[in-house]
Amino acid sequence: MSLPTTTSFDGPGGIFVDPAAYTNLRAWHEKADRLRSEDPIHRIEIDGYIPFYALTRHADVFEIERQPEKFLNTLQSVLFRTAFYDQQMATGLIIKSLVHMDGHEHHEYRKLTNDWFKPANLRKVIEQRVNQLAREFVDRMMERGPECDFAREIGLMFPLHVIMSILGVPEPDEPMMLRLTQELFASEDPEFGEGDGLEVIINASRTFFEYFNNLTDDRRKSPAEDIATVLSNATIDGAPIGEIERLGYYMIVATAGHDTTSNSINGGLEALIRHPEQLKALQKDPNRIPGAVDEIIRWATPVRHFLRHATGDYELGGVTIREGEAVLLSYLSANRDERVFKDPHAFDIDRENAAEHLAFGTGIHFCLGAHLARLELRAFFRELLSRLDSIELAGEPVHCVSHFVGGIKNLPVSYSLRPAE
Ligand code: HEM
Repeated sequence: MSLPTTTSFDGPGGIFVDPAAYTNLRAWHEKADRLRSEDPIHRIEIDGYIPFYALTRHADVFEIERQPEKFLNTLQSVLFRTAFYDQQMATGLIIKSLVHMDGHEHHEYRKLTNDWFKPANLRKVIEQRVNQLAREFVDRMMERGPECDFAREIGLMFPLHVIMSILGVPEPDEPMMLRLTQELFASEDPEFGEGDGLEVIINASRTFFEYFNNLTDDRRKSPAEDIATVLSNATIDGAPIGEIERLGYYMIVATAGHDTTSNSINGGLEALIRHPEQLKALQKDPNRIPGAVDEIIRWATPVRHFLRHATGDYELGGVTIREGEAVLLSYLSANRDERVFKDPHAFDIDRENAAEHLAFGTGIHFCLGAHLARLELRAFFRELLSRLDSIELAGEPVHCVSHFVGGIKNLPVSYSLRPAE
């Protein structure tokens, strides 16, 4: 039995469209649980958005992602208002990055940086810097003690420094980059943009483009060992890559590499504070941190969704998805699917199959930065937990208003930390 089509934010599928729905995750998950059980391929037709089916089960998300020739990303791989896409077309400011590419084009562009993000290269070029930054940020946390807003002062800033080091953005420009990524990824949140969210995104994109055009010029003159140098000099079939594609690349690495990791660290710390026995267990046996990191990422699932578009009619679970129709891959729901994860709403650092989560997606678009993200989380929690005497919440965490990338934006904590040995 399927539920009636959702036509407003109040309907059962409103949770995928209404950015505010993600500020109350308990209520969000109650609705997603019902959809997984009663209508896992749920039809949504809300004014201002393209109609789509929301996929809430792990198996369905997996099945669609593994058939990239039948389900394309296209330029509309995220559920923004149709007015946003129309405005983008009208201004000619089209942001094209890996998540907007398909087939051969995607393959060629992904190849440019794929090896750079593999574990062997990361170990060689960035692991030490990540460990050093983890130490510096836990030092900073200690200095600010005994209380701070962890999400804002530490969780947000540590991954920003890592990704900016990788991109080659000089430290003085980092605060501006932070603002821009927040505007691009969380523009529905009133804190990050006044007035029209579309205008905020378009202005932020313009500033981003200008900044990275200048960085490209610089790296062509003076190459360094960063991603900016790789992209500034990249060629495909012997010709330099397009300007829009290069800028889209900078943008996807800067944005996708930042808020996602921050939100995982913030969500992970909150979960550990609420489960002090698990926090203590990790302190006692840090070898369990890598396993815990996958559970933390499953738990936080900061990328809430992506869209795919059918190239032909396709049967999924008794529903015919017609050629040209869109499906929304709900990673947040898939990662709480009771068919895959036992007691899915429990946080459990020893969960045996935590790594089966879909928080990084799967298939050809599988997160380029997954190894880097894990490396960052491991480094940070190893450093923090080895120096932590006590920690508790000093207020209620506040969640970001966003239906695309989200998580905790304020996490007041009080704590006691020791200096590094
Ligand atoms: C915990 C942190 C992170 C999470 C949860 C996450 C999640 C995701 C997801 C869900 C996708 C789409 C996958 C799909 O369509 O199947 C993705 C793609 C991507 N991510 Fe991440 N990400 C994280 C960290 C990073 C980092 C640190 C980088 C840094 C480079 C990064 C760069 C990218 C890029 C470039 C893509 C596009 C890949 C493609 O389309 O081929 N991500 N990520």
